Amino acid sequence: MTKMKAVVYDKPFQVSIQDVQKPELQHPNDVIVKITTSCICGSDLHMYEGRTGAQSGIVFGHENMGIVDEVGAGVALLKKGDRVVMPFNVACGHCLNCEEQKSAFCTNVNPGFAGGAYGYVSMGPYQGGQAEYVRVPFADFNALQLPKGKEHEEDFALLADIFPTGWHGVELSGFKPGESVAVFGAGPVGLMAAYSAKLRGASEVYVVDRVPERLQKAESVGCIAIDLSKGDPAAQIKKLRGGREVDRGVDAVGYQAVTADGKTEQPNAVLEGLIAVVRPTGGLGIPGLYVPKDPGAPDSNSAKGYITFPFGKLFEKGLTVGTGQCNVKKYNRYLRDLIIAGVAKPSFVVSHNLSLKDAVDAYDKFDKRIDGYTKVLLHP
Ligand SMILES: NC(=O)c1ccc[n+]([C@@H]2O[C@H](COP(=O)([O-])OP(=O)(O)OC[C@H]3O[C@@H](n4cnc5c(N)ncnc54)[C@H](O)[C@@H]3O)[C@@H](O)[C@H]2O)c1
Ligand SMILES: [Zn+2]
Ligand SMILES: [Zn+2]
Repeated sequence: MTKMKAVVYDKPFQVSIQDVQKPELQHPNDVIVKITTSCICGSDLHMYEGRTGAQSGIVFGHENMGIVDEVGAGVALLKKGDRVVMPFNVACGHCLNCEEQKSAFCTNVNPGFAGGAYGYVSMGPYQGGQAEYVRVPFADFNALQLPKGKEHEEDFALLADIFPTGWHGVELSGFKPGESVAVFGAGPVGLMAAYSAKLRGASEVYVVDRVPERLQKAESVGCIAIDLSKGDPAAQIKKLRGGREVDRGVDAVGYQAVTADGKTEQPNAVLEGLIAVVRPTGGLGIPGLYVPKDPGAPDSNSAKGYITFPFGKLFEKGLTVGTGQCNVKKYNRYLRDLIIAGVAKPSFVVSHNLSLKDAVDAYDKFDKRIDGYTKVLLHP
């Protein structure tokens, strides 16, 4: 077989299922993985909506899990038949950043750029896994082994990105057990950040969004839902706390943040909210995506990635800020073990398990955040 089915980006708001070249081993360190699950991510929507430089023809899919099918001659640890999940980052394992556990900023996999990923614009020549097969470079480093069988498939699939990314968002904020946290965004990443904060011993976790099904999911894991459509979220949170701010804040929205009515984009909406709601000397974790170039930006500064925010207030409060892509390798093995031990069950965010051929409709509904489309898992 030399062809396979894959989800291909055609143009803004249109993907299609096409026959594309099945990946082959290109280097002795590669493996080919037969996909069992590949998830749709909020990050895919930035490309889907034409809000990046993504060109048509790109195969989407950076949250990939499956069974090792072919093994390059230089691969030491993996065998055909192994069940694996891949971090969305493609990384070499040997450069300075990889050795310092910053595998999201690998300098060897994507010339001229620090960081690589499957199926993503600017992130290197790595075909996505919303398909039947995916090629995994530096496979011993990039594939995390899982217990054989079918158990925990939904939970393990979330180790490719959103569970570690949510955890990372909390980490970036400088969080310590006992502290209170405000998470902006109850998409998959925000829900995972909120869940991670609970797992890590937060005293109170507030979650801001305007999509009712998503806020309900936040409540289902013991968080306090803040409905953005009911007014300024920072003011709502402080009111609930007798005027006090929270210790930490997480931006799980990014540059396509919307105003309270949901109708207009305001790229700095979440940054402003976080600076208002976090206490002096607290911290902000910003895993939400910001881009240096936005073809659909609401204003000319945002088009260049220049987002205005109250830096004066940030300085006055002595806030710390951490941001960037998640170094999935730093966390995925431990989070896998929390799943195996029954301590963590991140799959509460999963709303749909669909066949790969249903991807066209799934992108449409997930993009509109309707019909409870919170996290979609595709199975070839
Ligand atoms: N840093 C990383 O490694 C990494 C990894 C994965 C995703 N991301 C990014 O994280 C962000 C979230 O991803 P997702 O999959 O959860 O996406 P998503 O689009 O499904 O969720 C975003 C949520 O934010 C809500 N929202 C919009 N404006 C808001 C506002 N002003 N206040 C509060 N909530 C608001 C939306 O209603 C939506 O539910 C995206 O920008 C994505 O690209 C980053
Ligand atoms: Zn993702
Ligand atoms: Zn590297």
